[in-house]
Amino acid sequence: MGRYNDINTNDWQSYSNIWTDSLWLIDRRDNSGAHGGVYHGNFVPQIPYQLLSRYTRKGDWALDPFMGSGTTLIEAQRVGRNSIGIELQKSVVNEAIGRICSENRVGTIANAYVGDSCSVNVAAILEQNGLQQVQFVILHPPYLEYYKVF
Ligand SMILES: C[S@@+](CC[C@H](N)C(=O)[O-])C[C@H]1O[C@@H](n2cnc3c(N)ncnc32)[C@H](O)[C@@H]1O
Repeated sequence: MGRYNDINTNDWQSYSNIWTDSLWLIDRRDNSGAHGGVYHGNFVPQIPYQLLSRYTRKGDWALDPFMGSGTTLIEAQRVGRNSIGIELQKSVVNEAIGRICSENRVGTIANAYVGDSCSVNVAAILEQNGLQQVQFVILHPPYLEYYKVF
């Protein structure tokens, strides 16, 4: 297996679930299960799925400091990874937690926190989870500063 994933890189062509094309063309977003798909700017779930599958191993920890509707955390638990999400808006976090918890199939941990990722004490959050580090950070920051528009 790979050093950073559970893929046998000598046999990479046999993994039909791992996209090896340089361009990812996604016909249809995965709207299954806990994915609401309605939050503005939410990830197409296949993106965190591909990244987590390539760059983490089962049991690893992933951090998403712009968690939004929790797409990364849902995908993480689907592939047996633990995850931490941080999101500025409390109502968004509360809504996401309900959906994330509705499908924890493989006994992973997915913890969501309200906070400003620019200033939150990430080390303290990691410590609450018994961690000093995570294996992967996935960032999907906002596209613009809303206050400048409205
Ligand atoms: C592009 S969305 C991420 C969507 C997410 N990947 C999903 O699938 O739902 C960016 C998110 O970052 C949040 N956000 C913006 N500034 C933030 C900050 N300083 N700290 C934490 N979250 C922030 C926004 O509220 C928004 O939910």
